[in-house]
Amino acid sequence: MAKTIIRTAIDVGTTKVCTVVADVTDRSTIRVMGTGVVHSQGLHKGMVVSINEVKDSIRESVRIAEMSSGHKIDSAYVGVSGNHIGSLNNHRMVTISRNDRLVCRDDLKKVLESAQNIDVSSDKQLLHVIPRSYSLDGQAGMKNPVGMYGARLDLETHIITAAVTSVKNLVKCIRGAKVDVDGLVFSSLASSEAVLTEHEKELGVILADIGGGTTDIAIYKDGSVCHTAVLPVGGYQLTRDISISLGLPTAVAEVAKRKYANVDEDFSTEQKDPVSLSIENGYNIMHQDLYEVVRARMEEILKLIVMEMPRSEYTNMVPTGLVLTGGTANLPGLAAMAQEMLQIPVRVGSPREIHGLADSLYAPAYASGVGLLMWGVKNDEDIIKLNGRKSLLSRLLFKLRRPARPDKKKPYDEGLAKGGNHDTSNS
Ligand SMILES: Nc1ncnc2c1ncn2[C@@H]1O[C@H](COP(=O)(O)OP(=O)(O)OP(=O)(O)O)[C@@H](O)[C@H]1O
Ligand SMILES: [Mg+2]
Repeated sequence: MAKTIIRTAIDVGTTKVCTVVADVTDRSTIRVMGTGVVHSQGLHKGMVVSINEVKDSIRESVRIAEMSSGHKIDSAYVGVSGNHIGSLNNHRMVTISRNDRLVCRDDLKKVLESAQNIDVSSDKQLLHVIPRSYSLDGQAGMKNPVGMYGARLDLETHIITAAVTSVKNLVKCIRGAKVDVDGLVFSSLASSEAVLTEHEKELGVILADIGGGTTDIAIYKDGSVCHTAVLPVGGYQLTRDISISLGLPTAVAEVAKRKYANVDEDFSTEQKDPVSLSIENGYNIMHQDLYEVVRARMEEILKLIVMEMPRSEYTNMVPTGLVLTGGTANLPGLAAMAQEMLQIPVRVGSPREIHGLADSLYAPAYASGVGLLMWGVKNDEDIIKLNGRKSLLSRLLFKLRRPARPDKKKPYDEGLAKGGNHDTSNS
């Protein structure tokens, strides 16, 4: 009989807090029961700067989600971002010294244990230790070597760390809103879960969630994550540039950006006559000026994104290109501009494969909120719990027991790919 559980995710972003409640059947089908999205207060570049303000924003978001879902929220998966996030790839090795040289679960347990046993400075804590691939006697790229013969077992992992104090502040806000933390998930892993296809991850892809205060990045190759990072830039910088360059109050600059900003390549050549835009409260700007300010900042953000790529010839590394998501990916013309500039395929990604009351969530700004739920449900056993790690054996056995995910290579939905001009308001 199908087993259904209810799970919640809270994405505490710089511009909005988004709570999503869903029932999950057989750990795979997610049906959204309710959402609560509110403006966030008290965050700067993805990090808590005012506990009370953040707590109040979370409480309000949770309250609305409870009302719309009819479900009392006790605990949730929570997203973490901010430039305190660090990452590295690690490598561990064990020898198979038994006579039969047959790899068993204990060997995997040993090498995983050793991978988790890394020194992080006292101000940092482990957020994720993600097994990427095993190699046996130098033969690389194995997903599960149990039952094979070999003398040396190597494991590649991707490790993500976070500043202890930043995590504590965030957890304090969540608990202050009377919600327990089921697990902390780095935001770009969450967004990747919601918008990337298995095919893209296998061939190589870079995901950039350009939000209000941060750009969260994840690079996938050969089916697993190989680099993650947070850039302390996002839509807020665009708004600030507009405000400073065009002499508008910040709130008016935000309206101008959402209503009129675009980065279409052809815009400047097509504009024969200067167009004056009326924003609000009597403020007027020239469309061409807005275009130039926004384009200049977007070029800079895109350059920073590809600089995260470990090699300069990045086109080989990510043949399926760049997937943009987050609220700023709503900027009209952004995918085409990025494709032209970086010479790789670029698309805008929105959450896929969710059901129920999900219409409003099919927008780039909700990639991390929806993805948190998807990542949490899929990797629950692997999440490093706040009160200590899950036993390695249980994690390992879970991994080995878990049936191969059905190949969900559905054709990519063009409608979602465009991302449209969804108003991600409340942010
Ligand atoms: N049509 C649009 N054009 C340009 N920018 C937009 C548009 N719609 C929303 N944005 C911007 O998207 C940003 C919010 O994105 P999002 O909701 O993903 O951020 P967040 O998750 O709250 O923040 P972060 O992840 O950075 O902490 C804001 O800067 C907003 O101005
Ligand atoms: Mg975000």
